[in-house]
Amino acid sequence: MSDNNIDMNTVWQQDKDHYIHPWTDFSTFKETGSMVLADSDNVHVKDGDGNSYLDGIGGLWCVNIGYAREEMAQAIAEQVRQIPYYSCFGHHTTVPAAQLAAKLAELAPGNLNHVFYGCGGSVANDTAVRMIHFYFNQLGKKTKKKIISRIDGYHGSTYMAMSITGVKFDHIGFDIDEQLVHHISCPNPYRRPEDQSLEAFCDEKFRNWKTRFWNWALITLQPSLLSQFWVPAA
Ligand SMILES: Cc1ncc(COP(=O)(O)O)c(C=O)c1O
Repeated sequence: MSDNNIDMNTVWQQDKDHYIHPWTDFSTFKETGSMVLADSDNVHVKDGDGNSYLDGIGGLWCVNIGYAREEMAQAIAEQVRQIPYYSCFGHHTTVPAAQLAAKLAELAPGNLNHVFYGCGGSVANDTAVRMIHFYFNQLGKKTKKKIISRIDGYHGSTYMAMSITGVKFDHIGFDIDEQLVHHISCPNPYRRPEDQSLEAFCDEKFRNWKTRFWNWALITLQPSLLSQFWVPAA
């Protein structure tokens, strides 16, 4: 439920004057500012004038159970009253952190039974890189560090995740790590040469990442839009 005492024009101005938005065209932003979303319910969000919109992308693919869920508000409120946070560095934990790890281990397939928490996809990807590098360092394989990624795959916005991202447009004006990260062609069959069969296209993609690299530590793949998995090297 929105707070009726808030003046939306003031919010619009405050946002325009002080908030740096990611993925923004600053030349138009300084005139148009932001659309202020002030309310939400289930699968809809509402702007400051009360216009309702169906939120097709679920926030940014992260509002998985819908908006304004009372049971979620209750659960968060209860947790904040008990203990909202404690650092889990070293040998400390909290009740929900331990319980959630056990639940995720139960749900995850096979021997995936340990959990490392992050606060988003980019941090998860950077963490995966650090862990895999650490792993190979421990094995004494100190040169086995390279990361293979597909052109056009999106993997995040932190330094490493952005380097791994293969979307050229996202790199414009930024530095990326070209020592560690190698991009190979995009497995988009729609863009294959007209005279190439689907089978030949798939074979070519497979050869492409099998033969070109050595000392690779991990591959990042987006098997379908908005999903991704990591394959550590054996
Ligand atoms: C496949 C994939 N990986 C990583 C990310 C980055 O996640 P975040 O925006 O939570 O840092 C995204 C975000 O859209 C994504 O779609």
